[in-house]
Amino acid sequence: MNLTGKTCLVTGANSGLGFAVAKRFAAQGAGTVMVCRNRGKGEKAVLEIKKASPNSTVELMICDLSSMKSIQRFMDECKVKYSKLDILYNNAAVMKQKRTVTQDGFEMMFQVNYLAPFILMNSFIELLKNGSSPYIINNGRPSDKLRLDMDDLQFSKNYHMYNSFFKTKLCLLFASLELSRRNESAGITVTMIDPGPFKSDLVRDVPLAGWIKNLFSSPVEKTADNILYHITPDEARDKNGKVFKEKQEKPLTEYWNDRSISESLWSETESLIKGKIN
Ligand SMILES: NC(=O)c1ccc[n+]([C@@H]2O[C@H](COP(=O)([O-])OP(=O)(O)OC[C@H]3O[C@@H](n4cnc5c(N)ncnc54)[C@H](OP(=O)(O)O)[C@@H]3O)[C@@H](O)[C@H]2O)c1
Repeated sequence: MNLTGKTCLVTGANSGLGFAVAKRFAAQGAGTVMVCRNRGKGEKAVLEIKKASPNSTVELMICDLSSMKSIQRFMDECKVKYSKLDILYNNAAVMKQKRTVTQDGFEMMFQVNYLAPFILMNSFIELLKNGSSPYIINNGRPSDKLRLDMDDLQFSKNYHMYNSFFKTKLCLLFASLELSRRNESAGITVTMIDPGPFKSDLVRDVPLAGWIKNLFSSPVEKTADNILYHITPDEARDKNGKVFKEKQEKPLTEYWNDRSISESLWSETESLIKGKIN
């Protein structure tokens, strides 16, 4: 695969799958934009990728997805710096054992895992339209058993680390599907990919649970292959509005495909972020 000439942006690119995928993007010749919240960790990750692919163009952008102010600044900088975007890989996520609230007043996982990618997808539409075979990939495992509580999207009544985390990914799935329908004519492919379990530090709040999960998980480099597999630019269009588990397409469940849910979540999300982001 040759990604020369493409601009590929990866959130949460300093560690785990984000780092592994950014490294692949750079190795394939893409202009790689690594979005990290911590400058020190980000600079270290950029250096490591530059060392592996000395001729690559790798840039660090700082953004803390738990801060609307930081998201706004990051998006404004991107719009000045880049004239197009070919791949937006919404990878960053956080898993919190205890319910916490961001400085913007949102539940942390809801903001980082759902609101932030929702905002990035929508704000980068014009940049993506300037790309070739533009492609948005949202990362995560959408549950086919859980149901969203539209009256308690931010888990104020009922917080559970895993269930709430997977509900934020379910929100992201509904937003992916809704955006894929709304942008059908714009030529932007939107997919959600569950990369399958891999070793990482995601469950860092509960070290024993994280350790056990990692025992039964793949090395992250192998998982990065599952993501790269879906990035054959010319074929990307066929993937619009689809969901994948590793390399296989996952049929949409009746619940996932219920447009009344994706539409009401979309309008609720727009009201939640109104006035907080331009
Ligand atoms: N691990 C698995 O088995 C598995 C399975 C399926 C799907 N996934 C998905 O894979 C993705 C990557 O997770 P991972 O397992 O690679 O975990 P990870 O190593 O913890 O990576 C998460 C990344 O998100 C970043 N991040 C967290 N909060 C942020 C914030 N407020 N602003 C900006 N960046 C933030 C982290 O930055 P810091 O380093 O600064 O914290 C880190 O770079 C997630 O979407 C996850 O849901 C993971």
